[in-house]
Amino acid sequence: MDRHDSTLREMGLGPLWRLRDAQPAAVPEPARPEAKAVPAPSPTLAAGEGRGAAIAAMDWDELRGAVAACDACMLCRDRQQAVLGVGDVNADWLFIGEGPGAEEDERGEPFVGQAGKLLDAMLSAIDLRRFDDVYIANVVKCRPPGNRTPQPEETAACWPYLERQIALLQPKLIVALGRPAAQTLLQAEVKVGESRGRLFDFRGIPLIVTYHPAYLLRSLPDKAKAWEDLCFMRRTMRQLKGDAAPR
Ligand code: URA
Ligand code: SF4
Repeated sequence: MDRHDSTLREMGLGPLWRLRDAQPAAVPEPARPEAKAVPAPSPTLAAGEGRGAAIAAMDWDELRGAVAACDACMLCRDRQQAVLGVGDVNADWLFIGEGPGAEEDERGEPFVGQAGKLLDAMLSAIDLRRFDDVYIANVVKCRPPGNRTPQPEETAACWPYLERQIALLQPKLIVALGRPAAQTLLQAEVKVGESRGRLFDFRGIPLIVTYHPAYLLRSLPDKAKAWEDLCFMRRTMRQLKGDAAPR
């Protein structure tokens, strides 16, 4: 059994479909989500005048420092540490989750718990590795108590950091893992099941929505769909690299 097969097995998929059988399709036109009101990240929630502008001008070190000291929302209260993100700052791939869990809060790195193991297996299935052409971040940088979903005001308060991360990274492709990430980025009501397999647009950067690995751990049937999504991502990236002008 090769590494690819064992990865698939780890994902609970078995050696089902092989990527080499997948035919590249044309990159579809980016879809626009139905614009339905989701509370917009509001700069007024930011503590202090000019916070958004200050964050928008930060470099990586400044961003790391600002997040570590941030008290712009209630999530700062129970955190052990803020978790900015991890990976290759020149990455073409940006994966965005929801927020740190207990282990992430302890270690200061995103996706290092159970869901993280599955994310690593998913990355490996399309020959990607954490730190290598991949950056991983979350919508909120501090752990929501009991791993609850971040509230709109928390997501809004934290948004300038992710916005700055994306601006610094300039990834070729963004992958939103789960509904909160997708809704935050697309500023629309999003259902993952209806959005997967489509190409969205985030300020000119193609964006794909797929299931959150923590959800996949609980939902076996959707693992097969996640595998389809991985194939779609890889196909899309190949096209983007093929079509894109050199940087
Ligand atoms: N779930 C997330 O959304 N992010 C993490 O970093 C860990 C689990
Ligand atoms: Fe600041 Fe974001 Fe942490 Fe809230 S979640 S305290 S906005 S870093």
